Amino acid sequence: MSTTARPDYSPGLEGIVAGISQISDIDVEKSRLIYRGYDVHELAKQGSFEETAYLLLKGTLPTESELSDFSAELNSERSVPDFVYEAMSHVPKNAHPMDLLKVGVAVVAADDPDYNAPATDHDANVRKAVRLTAMMPALVANGWRISQGNPVVQPKGGLSTAANFLYMLEGQEADDFRVSTMDTSLVLYAEHGYNASTFAARVTVATLSDLYSGIVSAIGTLKGNLHGGANEKAMEMMMEIGEPSNAEAWVRDALAGKKKIMGFGHREYRISDSRAGIMGEMGKEAARRTGNEKWAEMADIVEKILKDEKGLFPNVDFPAAYAYYSLGIPIPLYTPIFAVSRITGWCAHIIEQLDNNRLIRPKAIYEGESLRDYVPIDRR
Ligand SMILES: CC(C)(COP(=O)(O)OP(=O)(O)OC[C@H]1O[C@@H](n2cnc3c(N)ncnc32)[C@H](O)[C@@H]1OP(=O)(O)O)[C@@H](O)C(=O)NCCC(=O)NCCS
Repeated sequence: MSTTARPDYSPGLEGIVAGISQISDIDVEKSRLIYRGYDVHELAKQGSFEETAYLLLKGTLPTESELSDFSAELNSERSVPDFVYEAMSHVPKNAHPMDLLKVGVAVVAADDPDYNAPATDHDANVRKAVRLTAMMPALVANGWRISQGNPVVQPKGGLSTAANFLYMLEGQEADDFRVSTMDTSLVLYAEHGYNASTFAARVTVATLSDLYSGIVSAIGTLKGNLHGGANEKAMEMMMEIGEPSNAEAWVRDALAGKKKIMGFGHREYRISDSRAGIMGEMGKEAARRTGNEKWAEMADIVEKILKDEKGLFPNVDFPAAYAYYSLGIPIPLYTPIFAVSRITGWCAHIIEQLDNNRLIRPKAIYEGESLRDYVPIDRR
């Protein structure tokens, strides 16, 4: 089947406008990403994940009292009902945490007090979005604990999303540096326009399906290696390279073999990924503080070769890989952490879609057989 571009067809929908949105924008020339008008660099350096979540879900930056109410609301909704953990405990232990997360979100849906609200009920959708944003850290951290045969840790009141995630994952409070690194990574991962998982979520709810179904579609889509799954694959690649001294030969070999290097390149950006710089600085600082300098050193070598040889730049997933590794996060949780953050962007898009809905239904060019006669089975 042909995947060549034609005047009426762009493979992978490259360059196709599929909607109008007020949530975020990428300035490709300047490599700048804005969430509702605010530069993600400023949000990452001066704000917090909770502020970003409020901005994405409600449209404006919160005042101090709004932020404090919102954080309290998140904290009051963080606990996941036991029956959800029970369902997750029946999933085969070899399941990837993203598959476990799909189960958790699918199972908890019917417990939402707004489960029976019409799909287009804006206020109910915002409430669902806040509840699910609040529960994601517990679903991921405790999903992992369950898969490892460890008991569930309940969320702790008064902790931020990042702090609570690390607390539930490790069973003890993390230090300020680890919390702030995690928090900043959540700000950077929160939203990115019509990326594949967000688009999948919009397509799902545009049928007037519900927010939870949209999120299950999105989680399944984020899992892929060309999307969110790239942060795990990038770390696996670095582990395979092993030492900085092996990096140059490994990358040249991979390029000669036409292999894709995970964590590099992007459909939208042309010069650099607006989020990769901050994630990289943070990742290098985390590596330095934790005795993981070799990954930072290896990253520099890999980046240089890919720039020189292919004009490719790291996307956010490459530095996220060594940042999370340096924080001691198990590799299979890198993509689920992305989901803990991106839930806010997904929900903002779902709400926007349902506020002004039209079914999303593109068409395909038919290249199959022309009309032919049906031959009864005894004469084929
Ligand atoms: C993100 C990505 C899917 C964008 O894909 P796209 O816009 O469809 O671009 P293509 O895959 O068609 O790539 C265009 C060219 O650049 C090359 N290229 C792009 N990303 C590459 C990578 N990471 N490693 C090696 N080559 C790459 C392709 O091989 C292709 O070269 P060719 O024209 O000689 O065949 C792609 O860059 C990629 O696969 N990156 C690795 C996965 C990843 O990090 N995903 C996270 C994105 S945030």
